[in-house]
Amino acid sequence: MDTFELNKIAGAFLGTLLFAMWLNVISGAIFRPAKLVKPGYPLPAAQVAEAAGGGAAAPSVAPIGQRLTEADVKKGEADTKPCQACHNFEKGAGAKIGPPLYGVVDRPKGSVAGYDYSEAIKSKGGEWTYADLDQFLTNPKAYAQGTKMTFAGEPDPAKRADIIDYLHTLSDKPEPLPAK
Ligand code: HEC
Repeated sequence: MDTFELNKIAGAFLGTLLFAMWLNVISGAIFRPAKLVKPGYPLPAAQVAEAAGGGAAAPSVAPIGQRLTEADVKKGEADTKPCQACHNFEKGAGAKIGPPLYGVVDRPKGSVAGYDYSEAIKSKGGEWTYADLDQFLTNPKAYAQGTKMTFAGEPDPAKRADIIDYLHTLSDKPEPLPAK
């Protein structure tokens, strides 16, 4: 093999390399992969909240005590329209699909006599505090896995505060609102 042959082989080799590089540049320009702003994949908000503390409201949301100081009872009453499909709010009214909600603030969870609560609610324990109502209404299923309440939840923190503010008025002796 003389030098001329060798040059031809080297030339062909270099040409192929150049072509491959060129292809890489061109395909890179055409199929530019979308860069993720944050690594990972998006989770539904409820799952994120759950990961942050058992269905707790996302950390960026102001605590319910603070939101209640800006809440609006009238708006809250209007926002309970979807609840009325399943709940009675008037004093002395009985259960519908769900238990009656008159006096629910500070009532022991799952305590309306004769109402057949799910194990999920019965096993929760304690009273319906403002904070617990806030968590439950954010995402009932995340708060009480296996609950019979098929309501998807109210994602808007301000609306939840309005609803809870209204619930708190449904009492002969309304519980005081938290100072903050
Ligand atoms: C599709 C029907 C349905 C809708 C809509 C619904 N709920 Fe319920 N709710 C239920 C059922 C059923 C239960 C009983 C849950 C269980 O036993 O797991 C319940 C339970 C509750 C409890 C617990 C009461 C207790 O005595 O322990 C509260 C508080 C409550 N709901 C509030 C609301 C509010 C506020 C809304 C509207 C924003 C609402 N629910 C919308 C069906 C519903």
